[in-house]
Amino acid sequence: MAAIVGSVALIVGAAVFAASALRAAPAARDDEVRVVPVLELPEPRTTGETPFEEALLQRRAVREFRPDPLTLGQLGQLLWAAQGETGDGRNAPSAGALYPLEVYVASEDGVFHYRPGGHEVAALSSEDIRQPLAAAALDQPAFRTAPAVIAIAGVNERMAVKYGSRAEQYVLIEVGHAGQNLLVQAAVIGLGAVPTGAFRDDEVAELFDLPDGTEPLYLIPVGLPA
Ligand SMILES: Cc1cc2nc3c(=O)[nH]c(=O)nc-3n(C[C@H](O)[C@H](O)[C@H](O)COP(=O)(O)O)c2cc1C
Repeated sequence: MAAIVGSVALIVGAAVFAASALRAAPAARDDEVRVVPVLELPEPRTTGETPFEEALLQRRAVREFRPDPLTLGQLGQLLWAAQGETGDGRNAPSAGALYPLEVYVASEDGVFHYRPGGHEVAALSSEDIRQPLAAAALDQPAFRTAPAVIAIAGVNERMAVKYGSRAEQYVLIEVGHAGQNLLVQAAVIGLGAVPTGAFRDDEVAELFDLPDGTEPLYLIPVGLPA
């Protein structure tokens, strides 16, 4: 993912930035217009040679990584496995097809937000937040060497519209589906990853600049195993 921001097209307009799109209320007339570079990801692979059973055998938590950055193909494949669109749905099941999850990436190139519709990432910032992210994740070893950290966040209100007090439970179940898809996909393409839940929510939300109501649920350091 080297020099990702230099090669992207600039798109201007309120429709571009996910954060404003995620808010329940419509944008106000005097809202700031944000200019967000958007990078189309390579077409994901939808066939492979690893049988499902072997993929399950290959998945194990990896907490030490080589420094090589992820390629766009690798990153796109992981994001697609977690939340990519397939037909009229997504790769992970969602109660009521309400899709309450949002996926973000932190790498040396900055912070990115995955947009399943276009299989693309929006560059939210060019800041490398991995060090403060490691601190927010209690200085766990996996964060010391990971070239990328994928964050899966949930928006309970999207689910509550239909499921009321069961919304939180459904969002937590769904992040497990998406996380497992990503982890098994990582193993199949030779990457290592570990799902982590031990972090300070408020610090992580601030580092990714998550919109109000979007809660970080999983942080997944990922890269080539050391
Ligand atoms: C909800 C959840 C939270 C986890 N949080 C962490 C974590 O904060 N740090 C970590 O190193 N591993 C974490 N793990 C990974 C487990 O430690 C790991 O899956 C377990 O040791 C079994 O090993 P395996 O994944 O290689 O089968 C978490 C796993 C789950 C499902």
